[in-house]
Amino acid sequence: MVLIVELVVSGLLAATVANSQSFDGTTRSEDAFSYVQPENTTILGPYGHSPAIYPSPNATSSINWEEAFARAQEFVAKLTVDEKADMVTGQPGPCVGNIVAIPRLGFRGLCLQDGPLAIRVADYASVFPAGVTVASTWDRDLFYARGYAMGQEFKAKGAHIALSPVAGPLGRSAYAGRNWEGFAADPYLTGVAMEKTIRGHQDAGVQATAKHFVGNEQETQRNPTFDSNGTLTDVIQESISSNIDDRTMHELYLWPFANAVRAQAASFMCSYQRLNGSYACENSKALNGLLKEELGFQGYVMSDWGGTHSGVASIEGGLDMNMPGGIGMYGMNREAGSFFGKNVTSAVRNGTVAESRIDDMIIRIMTPYYWLGQDKDYPEVDPSSADLNTFSPRSTWIRDFNLTGERSRDVRGDHAELIRKLAAEATVLLKNEKQALPLKSPKNIAIFGNDAGENTMGAVNEETFEFGSLAAGGGSGTGRFTYLVSPLEAIKARAKMNNTLVQYFLNNTQIATENVTDLWVPETPDACLVFLKTWAEEGADRENLSVGYNGNDVVESVAKFCNNTIVITHSSGINILPFASHPNVTAIVAAHYPGQETGNSIVDVLYGDVNPSGRLPYTIAKKASDYNAPPTTAVSTNGPYDWQSWFEEKLEIDYRYFDARNISVQYEFGFGLSYTTFSLSNLQAEPVSDSVSSIPEDQPILPGGNPALWEPLYNVTVSVTNSGAVEGATVPQLYVTFPDSTPDGTPPKQLRGFEKVSLVPGESQTVSFELMRRDLSYWDIVSQKWLIPEGEFVLRVGFSSRSLEDEMSITPVSS
Ligand SMILES: *[C@@H]1O[C@H](CO)[C@@H](O)[C@H](O)[C@H]1NC(C)=O
Ligand SMILES: *[C@@H]1O[C@H](CO)[C@@H](O)[C@H](O)[C@H]1NC(C)=O
Ligand SMILES: *[C@@H]1O[C@H](CO)[C@@H](O)[C@H](O)[C@H]1NC(C)=O
Ligand SMILES: *[C@@H]1O[C@H](CO)[C@@H](O)[C@H](O)[C@H]1NC(C)=O
Ligand SMILES: *[C@@H]1O[C@H](CO)[C@@H](O)[C@H](O)[C@H]1NC(C)=O
Ligand SMILES: *[C@@H]1O[C@H](CO)[C@@H](O)[C@H](O)[C@H]1NC(C)=O
Ligand SMILES: *[C@@H]1O[C@H](CO)[C@@H](O)[C@H](O)[C@H]1NC(C)=O
Ligand SMILES: *[C@@H]1O[C@H](CO)[C@@H](O)[C@H](O)[C@H]1NC(C)=O
Ligand SMILES: *[C@@H]1O[C@H](CO)[C@@H](O)[C@H](O)[C@H]1NC(C)=O
Ligand SMILES: *[C@@H]1O[C@H](CO)[C@@H](O)[C@H](O)[C@H]1NC(C)=O
Ligand SMILES: *[C@@H]1O[C@H](CO)[C@@H](O)[C@H](O)[C@H]1NC(C)=O
Ligand SMILES: *[C@@H]1O[C@H](CO)[C@@H](O)[C@H](O)[C@H]1NC(C)=O
Repeated sequence: MVLIVELVVSGLLAATVANSQSFDGTTRSEDAFSYVQPENTTILGPYGHSPAIYPSPNATSSINWEEAFARAQEFVAKLTVDEKADMVTGQPGPCVGNIVAIPRLGFRGLCLQDGPLAIRVADYASVFPAGVTVASTWDRDLFYARGYAMGQEFKAKGAHIALSPVAGPLGRSAYAGRNWEGFAADPYLTGVAMEKTIRGHQDAGVQATAKHFVGNEQETQRNPTFDSNGTLTDVIQESISSNIDDRTMHELYLWPFANAVRAQAASFMCSYQRLNGSYACENSKALNGLLKEELGFQGYVMSDWGGTHSGVASIEGGLDMNMPGGIGMYGMNREAGSFFGKNVTSAVRNGTVAESRIDDMIIRIMTPYYWLGQDKDYPEVDPSSADLNTFSPRSTWIRDFNLTGERSRDVRGDHAELIRKLAAEATVLLKNEKQALPLKSPKNIAIFGNDAGENTMGAVNEETFEFGSLAAGGGSGTGRFTYLVSPLEAIKARAKMNNTLVQYFLNNTQIATENVTDLWVPETPDACLVFLKTWAEEGADRENLSVGYNGNDVVESVAKFCNNTIVITHSSGINILPFASHPNVTAIVAAHYPGQETGNSIVDVLYGDVNPSGRLPYTIAKKASDYNAPPTTAVSTNGPYDWQSWFEEKLEIDYRYFDARNISVQYEFGFGLSYTTFSLSNLQAEPVSDSVSSIPEDQPILPGGNPALWEPLYNVTVSVTNSGAVEGATVPQLYVTFPDSTPDGTPPKQLRGFEKVSLVPGESQTVSFELMRRDLSYWDIVSQKWLIPEGEFVLRVGFSSRSLEDEMSITPVSS
């Protein structure tokens, strides 16, 4: 039995392109959809195959970058085979990833830098709110504004390529360590955030990288287990295999990446783990089939760092750039050479790999470079980035890098203002009773928790730092703070204006174990603000869903004596909140990871200068055991392929699961309160085209796939009114219920539209949602097409996934 189809591929294999192969390699029949988990997980069940899709498609000039494409072709024509190998192979150098210069052609090389919330390896740069935070704004304009401002900083520091944004993980599991780097546990919201962020980055002149493609839904065993000397030749167990059926792949995990391709992302980063048995960075079905053929991706695929596990097989499978270049775990073992590099040269010379394939790799790399004008007056790499680079410090460099640019350039501009606004707009008010918020000039407030104050141990936060406000998670997706406005500092400054007494107690152990009435003097505070933090990082999944550092005990201890306890969480995402119904906990605020202006942003909301309008981009369940799809944390056998993750919940992640199983939740997807109230009326759906067929017209593929899928079919409108007393913004959300004729397993409802709207008291505005063909289609595994099912769709609009006030139905295709 062939466990890993891709590993047996050689350059001599001349398989034809098989467009009709489903993602999981199942026979194309209705039966393929029913899934039975095999008893013996070393046998890869119905999901466990990736069909071979060869050859890797050439890029074409069919979109608005013809001129850049032609220049890339000219460039490639001038290269020697050795130079071609350099163009597709990373080298240790000043940036996290480096492609060396070719001075004889005036090419100054490429600098690739982390990450999705900041240019990480840099000084005098901003730390923006994390993906989960910005997703909570549900604001398309803010998605773009953040992407643009970040792009400006990458460019000003001389980085050509930003390793941002993230749509994988999507959020299958509440525990996954990197969910916060991405956006929402929903493909539609994540898709919009991807598109806007990518356009923002690239409009600022930097190349965006959509990552991690695809199925990277847990951190545990994302890489193989090696023996102690860490070379790829000594694998004890291969990485986990995400085993995903074809429909789930299309409707959940691939969906936001389709938006990324449509936004013309310059690059994609393939992920660490295996996918239906074969490594994602050599999975020809994923890279050649889904990405380059079905979605029409014209840019290049780079490997995650150390995610390349072969030379020829990866090149044939669709990988275009090997990062960081060397062999070994994370590519750090440079003595061991490279799967690419000189091996590319010899594979071309001996005829194993067609030179035209290498040329295509380079054309894909150079087209976005010319398209974004990176050949003209692009800033040089800031030498300070090289000094801060612990991944490839100077001692590891093999090739020459000229670092003649100005050192330690301040690239922050006026971004602090945007960062403050972003995080305030992202703040989700979950509970607000007895008019606890906004604060009304209290006489006496007490602040509790190790998350309130200054971090005293360094500019890059770590899990071991007990004290200090948490404004970003850990790993390659973090940022280096030039400053952080702590909540304590910002509240003290604000309270001073009203002569408010501010007392603070930051030691969680002390608060949780002592009688807090012994701490505060002379009387019970008017408001007790409890700041809690929850760490998450790359490389590890969360062990539990509780707030960190005994946070639950801290709340209990304070709320026992303070009848106005206001809890603020700084968290990677999902937290179980056992104190949610505590009568003395009057308010709960989820602020996620807000970036460097965290204190100012929270003060703006607590004092009502900003009316909260954030909405949850995931569901908070009543208890941890209510969540499905936990990460695979251990295997009991030691076979090399034994790490398997069966995505058997299929489409049922987050609210899709809670809805399908009718499980009551604490705070549902899309939920968030305001200091005012809103109402909806007059829901309508206007057909945009006269007749709608079930099957999309077969149009030539453009980036994003068949353009017919993106055509608007209905214009849904609803009138929103601010029925309260203060100005504020809200997010009407459109959920679609598919007709009964849709195949089994279709979630009860799915987000298909949202819009943020700001209104003064009494004001009404008509909000419109465009329903595209893709929004009303399911992926048919038999015909390998998106089909609109026959019958009646129900459209519901409301202010969260479980507060749907207005509904109507449409029948695009009748039987
Ligand atoms: C599982 O299947 C593999 C491959 O057929 C076989 O070698 C192994 O013995 C089986 N293990 C069990 C426990 O049945
Ligand atoms: C790519 O283009 C080259 C010519 O530059 C051609 O030889 C090769 O067959 C093409 N590959 C594919 C997959 O179309
Ligand atoms: C380390 O690598 C070498 C060469 O690949 C191998 O022979 C050896 O067994 C490995 N393990 C240890 C623990 O040295
Ligand atoms: C070529 O790849 C092999 C692994 O397949 C590696 O051992 C070798 O060092 C590489 N050669 C060079 C020159 O990097
Ligand atoms: C051609 O070169 C590649 C890369 O060095 C090597 O793996 C392969 O075995 C070579 N093939 C032949 C036929 O020499
Ligand atoms: C570095 O600069 C020198 C002098 O201008 C030049 O000769 C050399 O080619 C440059 N090297 C690289 C890698 O750009
Ligand atoms: C609190 O201070 C702010 C800023 O000076 C001021 O606008 C507000 O009126 C004050 N509130 C009270 C109740 O004193
Ligand atoms: C925090 O409080 C506990 C219990 O009172 C104490 O043991 C510990 O030393 C305190 N930590 C710091 C850093 O003061
Ligand atoms: C806490 O301290 C207050 C004031 O000293 C006292 O009245 C109360 O009984 C104490 N409560 C507990 C549970 O120790
Ligand atoms: C709420 O706080 C009051 C003090 O204001 C206290 O007497 C009461 O016991 C608290 N309630 C709970 C459930 O802890
Ligand atoms: C808390 O208790 C005090 C004293 O009993 C009362 O005046 C105040 O209204 C209460 N506050 C809340 C928010 O329940
Ligand atoms: C949808 O309807 C709104 C409100 O009538 C209108 O402003 C908008 O242009 C329409 N959009 C399309 C695509 O027809």
